[in-house]
Amino acid sequence: MNSFKKFKNLVPPIATLSSPHLLSIEGMPKTEIVSLLERADYFADIQISKIEKTLNGYVILNVFFENSTRTRVSFELAGRRLGAEVINISVNMSSIKKGESLLDTANTLSAMRPDVLIVRHPDSGAPKLFSEYLDCSIVNAGDGRHEHPTQALLDALTIKRRLGRIEGLKIAICGDISNSRVARSNIHLLTTLGAKVRCIAPPTLMPKDLSNLGVDCFDNLEEGIKNTNVVMLLRLQNERMSGTETPSKREYFHYYGLDNKKLGLADSQAVIMHPGPMNRGVEIASNLADDENRSLIKMQVQMGVAIRMAAIESLHNKKYAR
Ligand code: NCD
Repeated sequence: MNSFKKFKNLVPPIATLSSPHLLSIEGMPKTEIVSLLERADYFADIQISKIEKTLNGYVILNVFFENSTRTRVSFELAGRRLGAEVINISVNMSSIKKGESLLDTANTLSAMRPDVLIVRHPDSGAPKLFSEYLDCSIVNAGDGRHEHPTQALLDALTIKRRLGRIEGLKIAICGDISNSRVARSNIHLLTTLGAKVRCIAPPTLMPKDLSNLGVDCFDNLEEGIKNTNVVMLLRLQNERMSGTETPSKREYFHYYGLDNKKLGLADSQAVIMHPGPMNRGVEIASNLADDENRSLIKMQVQMGVAIRMAAIESLHNKKYAR
């Protein structure tokens, strides 16, 4: 079901953002979020051969200081579909020292005169730092535990296309909330659009300040999942843990992994999401990950390209356009 019916025969305009960068969802006005979703919804339906190459001659640098498959490829495809040149740079963290050397890297990248820099970095705030030193638009493709704005946008687009709305839905975000930039961006976005967000995590993986963000917190999944319309699972991000936060994977699955029995407590039409990469049998039972009726995991990947097209295009003709 597509909730953007009013645009059925109309092409929604290029989204207008007040900032030349896309660094976070926190602080982004609802109107800007909605305009990105509407434009991406149009890109999700248009035949690829009909897409106008409006970013011809535009240079996008995809700079990833952390491993990524789906996000990097998705930004690359998005840029190419709009006619831009996209160059991927994987940076080996072992050769980079923090602080000053990050600025050295910024200066090197700046000398290449990109129009947009897509940055993923293990340190929260790195994309913002880049935005202060470089003369180009910066898109945050995930920074530490901070934010992953395009992931939240693609999640919202997926929910809207499938369930027809976001306002009033009960959405559970379950798992390693503490280490998740996906959770943080989704909390800001989904509450801005009027969803009732519940966060479910073991006490060791639940940040202390969450209730200030207008969400309800649960350490019992069976309680938290009751009557929810969307169950969004998160990967256990061991790379950001000190080692003592979780019990064995088996025990974690027993209490916090989604299986048929626990899903039975959610709304009878509830859908399942996961940003990937997922650990089958840890965060989610394999049969549910592959359940075509309930799992939106593949759709999330598809919507990722459409959202990134809308985002990159909206930064065109901004302050830094040449
Ligand atoms: C997420 C990320 O990198 O934050 N993945 C993604 O972008 N698809 C989630 C994760 O790594 O678990």
